[in-house]
Amino acid sequence: MFSLNFLLTMTFRRGIILLFLLNFIMLFFFLFLSLNDHSISISHSPTSKREKIHLLIVSSWRSGSSFLGQIFNQHNDVFYLYEPGHPIWMRLKQESAELLQYTVRDLLRSLFNCNVSPLHPYLPSRVQRISHIDFFSESRALCSPPACSSLIHLESYDQTTCYYRCGNASLDKMEESCRSYSHVVIKTVRVFDFSVLLPLLQDPTLNLKILHLVRDPRAVAASRKKGKYYLSIDDNIVIKDGMDGKKLSQDQVMMKICKSQVAIYKEAKSSGMFSRGRYMLIRHEDLAMEPLANAKRLLKYAGLHLTSDLEKWIYNVTHHDIKQLNDFLSFSREAAKVIQKWRGELDFKMVKNIEKYCKGAMKAFGYLPLNSEKEMKNLTLNLITNIKEEPL
Ligand SMILES: *[C@@H]1O[C@H](CO)[C@@H](O)[C@H](O)[C@H]1NC(C)=O
Ligand SMILES: *[C@@H]1O[C@H](CO)[C@@H](O)[C@H](O)[C@H]1NC(C)=O
Ligand SMILES: *[C@@H]1O[C@H](CO)[C@@H](O)[C@H](O)[C@H]1NC(C)=O
Repeated sequence: MFSLNFLLTMTFRRGIILLFLLNFIMLFFFLFLSLNDHSISISHSPTSKREKIHLLIVSSWRSGSSFLGQIFNQHNDVFYLYEPGHPIWMRLKQESAELLQYTVRDLLRSLFNCNVSPLHPYLPSRVQRISHIDFFSESRALCSPPACSSLIHLESYDQTTCYYRCGNASLDKMEESCRSYSHVVIKTVRVFDFSVLLPLLQDPTLNLKILHLVRDPRAVAASRKKGKYYLSIDDNIVIKDGMDGKKLSQDQVMMKICKSQVAIYKEAKSSGMFSRGRYMLIRHEDLAMEPLANAKRLLKYAGLHLTSDLEKWIYNVTHHDIKQLNDFLSFSREAAKVIQKWRGELDFKMVKNIEKYCKGAMKAFGYLPLNSEKEMKNLTLNLITNIKEEPL
């Protein structure tokens, strides 16, 4: 009797001790988890791969993506690349945009991980230098140490000086530079379906967010009409699929671009990436009208702060005519006037044409169609409205 009682008490005691132990283990486990979480959200040190943030700016030609890209490029924590998919398109001109976007996607994955080697087959010579990367001087990081040893500070960074002083560095230096930053930001106009990007969003080695920039199709058309982009090699690649030797037309290019911008937006929402904070839409017009407020919002999305240097830079490029900045940024000056410029440049018939081809984009992104030529010329008549959240 006594021994049974003793045995029961012992078992009970052991049970309690075990329970305590279990509690301790659980407590430590949760403590460990929350500490880990904490270090991810507060640390700015660029050492660990997991903490690195990757941002892909997805847009289309003449939509203001150079300006948007520069906002990130001017930030001290950002390693920025401008159109790294360009050499793929120039090398494989006979292929369609639909096909090439997969190759571009895989290149982006490597570049986000600071691996430059997939670019090698697309670059010209055996001894490869940073100058072989198209538009390398658009990247402040590639214009400063360790990529460029001629010291160029943020204040004095300008594309032209960099172009002549920094092109000689090897591609290893580019990787070294990339690895030293906490944020990698890449801009591309060469993605046409959101689903192509899903593997990158699910990749455990990446911490990717998408920033999608759109612009009023009528303004895009007006800008294309003037620019050197008109009927370019790029356009041929964009509309290769379904052309079958038919003649290239600007209407078709615009239609294709508009459709893919809407498709990206809708797919991003239906994939759940929008609601999970991995996708954000920004209109060029909103950025142009309120550059500081929107820049702040976009930087926050990418886990960055608006520094006072960057704030000054944004103020400067949106308020002054600065000679040293190249043509890419010129549209950002006198924003209110510039975003309406197309209304004096296109004839009404062409506008109605674009509105027809880009009906879906106009509706999805809140651009109002015109009823008459009189409306087109009346600049007090606002043509931009809030984006309506429609059920999918
Ligand atoms: C570029 O590098 C090559 C070989 O490393 C060297 O001979 C040349 O002088 C360098 N040019 C400049 C402008 O630094
Ligand atoms: C802004 O412009 C002023 C006047 O041109 C110049 O002195 C200043 O360095 C510029 N600041 C930045 C951050 O670009
Ligand atoms: C221009 O548009 C504004 C805003 O809709 C309107 O109030 C005004 O009467 C229009 N002006 C002319 C000349 O039609």
